[in-house]
Amino acid sequence: MTKNALDHRLAADLAQFKADGIYKTLNYLDSPQGPRAVMEGHGDVIILSSNNYLGLANHPTVVQAGHAALDRFGAGTASVRFICGTFTIHRELETAIARLAGTEASLSFMSAWNANEAVPATLLGEQDLVLSDQLNHASIIDGVRLAKAITKCQTGVYKHCDLDDLRAKLAAASDRRTKLVITDGVFSMEGSIVDLPGTLQVCRDYGAILMIDDSHATGVLGATGRGTAEHFGMVGEVDIITSTLGKALGGAAGGFTAASAEVCDYLTQRARPQLFSNALPPTVAASSLASIQVLEAEPQRVAQLRDNARYFREGLIELGFKPLHGETPIIPVILGETSAAIRASELLLQAGVFVTGFGFPVVPQGEARVRCQISAAHTREHLDFALDAFKTVGRTLHLI
Ligand SMILES: Cc1ncc(COP(=O)(O)O)c(C=O)c1O
Repeated sequence: MTKNALDHRLAADLAQFKADGIYKTLNYLDSPQGPRAVMEGHGDVIILSSNNYLGLANHPTVVQAGHAALDRFGAGTASVRFICGTFTIHRELETAIARLAGTEASLSFMSAWNANEAVPATLLGEQDLVLSDQLNHASIIDGVRLAKAITKCQTGVYKHCDLDDLRAKLAAASDRRTKLVITDGVFSMEGSIVDLPGTLQVCRDYGAILMIDDSHATGVLGATGRGTAEHFGMVGEVDIITSTLGKALGGAAGGFTAASAEVCDYLTQRARPQLFSNALPPTVAASSLASIQVLEAEPQRVAQLRDNARYFREGLIELGFKPLHGETPIIPVILGETSAAIRASELLLQAGVFVTGFGFPVVPQGEARVRCQISAAHTREHLDFALDAFKTVGRTLHLI
């Protein structure tokens, strides 16, 4: 292929990424995702770096549901939803999502990214305001940018989980018709949980609508995995919940908005990713539905996940590591410089444990980390193997 000026510019940038140590190399799995998986070039490794929180990505019921939907509906809709691109399995999935989230209705999207992009840009207008937590996921950040560009609504960012700052920004916006506050339920780089009661109270005090992204909370938080609202005993109180089907709920792909009937209907009418893009493939819709059914039938998976996370966190502390305090299955271990995090993840992989290292600019300078993610499917044997690898690598790199 003939290279053009763009190719040359990108090649130079890519070379610089490599020189700066921020070039990402893709690791290829050659087996289903699970607590262990076969990684090309590394063999059988313990996976401590996936969002397969409930271990459903290769669950027989979930896989079988996908097969059955392929046989019943074929590969896909070949159309966007409002023309002739909606299967009955989409309605069944959306009913189950609303039941799980504790909302009146839900609407599925091709991804949580799409859902987060759709909500502010569709529901807001020029007289409105959206405020976003400083550490929100990139999809929310881009969703807010898009809303500003499309609707000319006002936008703002409040300091991470700082309710005084949120209050001050809402107080200064009394002239706004709708005020939408968006926060992650669980912050994915920290593993921390939003103060939902406090945030909701501030929203109520100032007449604001609260939207939470539960991508790392669905299937994870609350006694039965219904998410951040269940964790705080507040099911049915959050105005709008977005989340993913690509993590705990089967892990294939897809996302959703769960909210009032009006919000979901309005999004069906006007959200551009709904109007101009195909819906979830029926295989994925069916596997996601089966995942919700497995979760509802086996809530003990959530308790197992919590137990596993506690066991691993305590094991790391006993070894002398200082994981960030928390109660979610996201366990970041701060190692300082980016090079330390990258080196640690390389050595862990050599020892048979896959954990990703994150450095600046994904996390603040000096706070580079390896981020462990625990699954309900990890056995004590898997976790002990991983703790042994951490011990060896920690000693090699003088981290403990
Ligand atoms: C908090 C959060 N929101 C949204 C997403 C996007 O999810 P999806 O893969 O369904 O687009 C992610 C994925 O990393 C996430 O962590």
